[in-house]
Amino acid sequence: MSAPNSSFDPVEVSALQPEAIAQALNDALEAIGAAVDLDQLRAVRTQVAGDRSPLALANREIGALPPAAKAEAGKRVGEARGRLNAALTARQSALEEERDARVLITEAVDVTLPTARRPRGARHPLTTTQEYLADVFVAMGYEIAEGPEIETEWFNFDALNIGPDHPARSMMDTFFIDPPEQGLVLRTHTSPTQIRALMGRELPVYVVHPGRVFRTDELDATHTPVFHQIEGLAVDEGITMAHLKGTLDHLASTLFGAGTLTRWRPSYFPFTEPSAEFDLQCFVCRGNSVIRNAADPDFFGPCRTCRSEGWIEWGGCGMVNPRVLVACGVDPERYSGFAFGMGIERTVMFRNNAEDMRDMVEGDVRFSLPFGADS
Ligand code: PHE
Repeated sequence: MSAPNSSFDPVEVSALQPEAIAQALNDALEAIGAAVDLDQLRAVRTQVAGDRSPLALANREIGALPPAAKAEAGKRVGEARGRLNAALTARQSALEEERDARVLITEAVDVTLPTARRPRGARHPLTTTQEYLADVFVAMGYEIAEGPEIETEWFNFDALNIGPDHPARSMMDTFFIDPPEQGLVLRTHTSPTQIRALMGRELPVYVVHPGRVFRTDELDATHTPVFHQIEGLAVDEGITMAHLKGTLDHLASTLFGAGTLTRWRPSYFPFTEPSAEFDLQCFVCRGNSVIRNAADPDFFGPCRTCRSEGWIEWGGCGMVNPRVLVACGVDPERYSGFAFGMGIERTVMFRNNAEDMRDMVEGDVRFSLPFGADS
């Protein structure tokens, strides 16, 4: 065993001198006391207790001391670090307490305050259905066309080959804007948008236009003077009625389930030739008007969804009348097209089992709420 050795050079390990240790500890305690929040304390901790802090560096010097001096220096540094750590812990919990007290005040919730008792609204099923119908066509490459609700007689009637003596033009069906001589009407259908699209766009044209239309009908369970239609128009080379049928059947399937068809009846519209009215197959009884009774499969009962109609009237359609193409400057020798228009109220009534048209226009949110999940 070597004898105690007191002849080490104090200069080399000055960091271990009692004064130096005391100074380092003092500085550290001061810095800790000066930290006013937890972020500052975190920075101070690195500075006074981190690997490169004065006391950590001093601690490293101990290894270089002669064995006799190690114990004493070690004790000195150890004590200083102990006090330092105690000070850090104490400051840490003091600052945490301060923060908690502050948060309790700034983030306090007064549970006795009255809430804003404004119930959530809901989008109207007419709106969401219009958007859904338009989306089906956008997915097929159509664009959305626009048109005004106050329309000139020329766009609403003349350009669509509805002559001056056509019954639809009479005061009975049409709202005229005063004074009537100025030739402005509330559009009676979305078809004037066909004209606007053909005159304003490059060919080929594939557009749909959902919108509001007006007719002088009394409001009752099945009529309303303000209602909605969606108009479709496709004008291109080689368009046939088969394209029209396929398009409407695709729409029916998308809205009401795969395989739902449309049925056509010959009809007349001045702006299409030939023309048809089309019905939508009931998606419950599939056009049969009756459905099998679940309890007794031999018994057939009435279909409630279509009120045993089997089909519901949906809209009008046809091949664009060449006279309309000519009125819009389109060469009917080269281009042909189809057009259709259908009622959105009818679609909603059928699709959502809404029975009374009046519910649809009254604006009572209780009507829309059940459809609120539709976006
Ligand atoms: N505009 C017609 C109506 O309101 C429907 C229709 C549109 C018919 C397009 C044929 C082509 O009844």
